[in-house]
Amino acid sequence: MRTVITYGTFDLFHKGHYNILKRAKEEGDYLIVGVTGESYDAERGKLSVQDSLATRIENVKATGFADKIIVEEYLGQKIPDILKYHVDVLVIGSDWKGKFDHLKKYCEIKYLERTKDISSTQLREEKLTIYKLGIVTDDINDKEVVSESPRVSGIHVESVFSENRETADAFCEKYELYKGFDDYDDFLDSIDIVYIKSNFSSRLNYIERALKKAKHVICEVPYTIELEKEKYIKKLAQENGVVFFEDVPMLHLGVFGQLLWMARGNVIGDIVSVKCSVSKKMFDEDNHIPFIDMAYVPICAIMKIAGYNYTDSHVSIVKKENGDIRYGLLTFEYENAIATAEVSEDVDIECGMTIYGTTGEIKIPDDWWRVGYFSILDYHDSKLKHYSSNFEGNGFRYLIQSILREIRSSDNLEIAGITHEENNAITNMIRKIEEKSN
Ligand code: CTP
Repeated sequence: MRTVITYGTFDLFHKGHYNILKRAKEEGDYLIVGVTGESYDAERGKLSVQDSLATRIENVKATGFADKIIVEEYLGQKIPDILKYHVDVLVIGSDWKGKFDHLKKYCEIKYLERTKDISSTQLREEKLTIYKLGIVTDDINDKEVVSESPRVSGIHVESVFSENRETADAFCEKYELYKGFDDYDDFLDSIDIVYIKSNFSSRLNYIERALKKAKHVICEVPYTIELEKEKYIKKLAQENGVVFFEDVPMLHLGVFGQLLWMARGNVIGDIVSVKCSVSKKMFDEDNHIPFIDMAYVPICAIMKIAGYNYTDSHVSIVKKENGDIRYGLLTFEYENAIATAEVSEDVDIECGMTIYGTTGEIKIPDDWWRVGYFSILDYHDSKLKHYSSNFEGNGFRYLIQSILREIRSSDNLEIAGITHEENNAITNMIRKIEEKSN
């Protein structure tokens, strides 16, 4: 018996998929089809898949060619599959030509010509509304929004606005965008989603004007330190039927979600202490991000992990000769816990996060805000367990995926976002830092 194996995502099942499965079956007597799992696709940055795993499996099954269907769950699974199922030949489309030659020592590899003029990507683009995204900026640094966005189907970065026409045009030229604007209203009329990355003092005005024109907004944080304004912005978004997102990619990373639910569950008992530290050197290599924007991230993480119901908070800062903040220690007191964040502008502190509970601890080393890995130590049996997940890029594409999901859905799905209560608590702390720094 000659066993054949083939792999694919098989999203929006089409003629090309049917043809390759048919030809794969003709290569032998028994066909195994590996369908990519959802977390595997997310990890490798393939974020546009529309059909669920169950639907994709059903569609493969319906062709009648597959004798066995398996799920491809991780990179490196092909060799154990080949050995386990005594595979004679791996069949794959010609778009992968040469990519699987390293498997030749395990079985025969056959690249079959792709069916012309059809792909899942093409179908997704025909099927989906394409949202036009514009960037508001006051410098010519992209922060990877332009490079990250194409990773998600259904969004296209079109244009850029800056108060300074030259900056807008230079940005456009650098990143090959369609058009630069210095008139905000004209700019808004040309797009559906606006990404605001200008300086703190201008953010609120840009958000308000965009929401009033019913444009979806992603804005760098913080955008206000007045609680009433935050409430007003959220209400304005709701009244205009648009989505407002704070730009905190960490909240949209799968493994951060996992960490959160484990920390809030009883895996380490009751939380006693959250300690985290961020240094400018690790957070922002290019040195574009102001202290307050950087401080927002650990504060936000603490609100998510320990909650927003703190009873007291303190800010201690060390200033540079010119009066700017050099280092800050932020403390939140809870009824039965304490959380601290060290934020350093130019002192090279060690970064990391530890959450201590009554029965165990969770640790994320180094750049914990780009969390891809954490470990849990259980005090009862001293066992250390590791959890990890890869993600591609700087995390922004996962935020884009969330906002598109939210825009396309009529329900409010935003589970990864920041709630009003959390926002209030964050804003209170940001205000304290502002007061101390003046
Ligand atoms: N395939 C093919 N002809 C096509 C499209 C896909 O033979 N026109 C083959 C691929 O080469 C692969 C299998 O079908 O062996 C599954 O491919 P998959 O990546 O799921 O489909 P695509 O349409 O290529 O998806 P995408 O556009 O998302 O890359």
